[in-house]
Amino acid sequence: MARLRLAVLISGRGTNLQSLIDACADTGYPAEIAIAISNNPDAPGLERAARADIPVRVIDHRPFPDRETFERSLDSALREAETELVCLAGFMRLLTPWFVERWRDRTINIHPSLLPAFPGLDTHARVLASGARISGCTVHFVRAGMDSGPIAVQAAVPVVEGDDEERLAARVLEAEHRCLPLAVRLIAEGRVRVAGDRCVIDGAGEPGATLVSPPPREGA
Ligand code: GRF
Repeated sequence: MARLRLAVLISGRGTNLQSLIDACADTGYPAEIAIAISNNPDAPGLERAARADIPVRVIDHRPFPDRETFERSLDSALREAETELVCLAGFMRLLTPWFVERWRDRTINIHPSLLPAFPGLDTHARVLASGARISGCTVHFVRAGMDSGPIAVQAAVPVVEGDDEERLAARVLEAEHRCLPLAVRLIAEGRVRVAGDRCVIDGAGEPGATLVSPPPREGA
């Protein structure tokens, strides 16, 4: 069966890109990375793509007069690569409604919180400041509002007493690396349908346990 053609958009270190590279290395995985695109010429993630022999494009946003002109160039690169699904994996540019509509229901984003809680930047610092005991990550289809759109996959991750941003980020990142390949798999298998503001997932099954944080002691 033909594999779903992904474009992975990055701006930084690319560990989520790496999780897709690793998933796609399995010939049974239903997607492949057609292209990796970075708006940042110095993104360390570019090296990961090169090492995996994935076609790479750098489209630096800075010389473009406005967002939409940059996005038109992005759009051409995506079409040239015959992209079927765009994965925003640490891509640090806000997308205009023009791009979002053009790639509607064909663009997903990974965000390091349990959306709709804590959209935007500095997520972990805000989670810690809020005193929340559970955080997580979300893979969602992209709509015009920041970090908004129908949710495909989420994981809950405990906030642990004494956490700082770095420790919480590392714990959430591990969950991200499971959720992004899972979301892509479900979409590639045609099991995700966007219905209004929600996703309906075929054969989703039931998640195992309730996460309680802090964990209760025996008998309490
Ligand atoms: C991840 O935490 C992702 O959720 C957020 O940006 C970070 C990117 O990390 N959108 P990486 O570049 O994939 O390592």
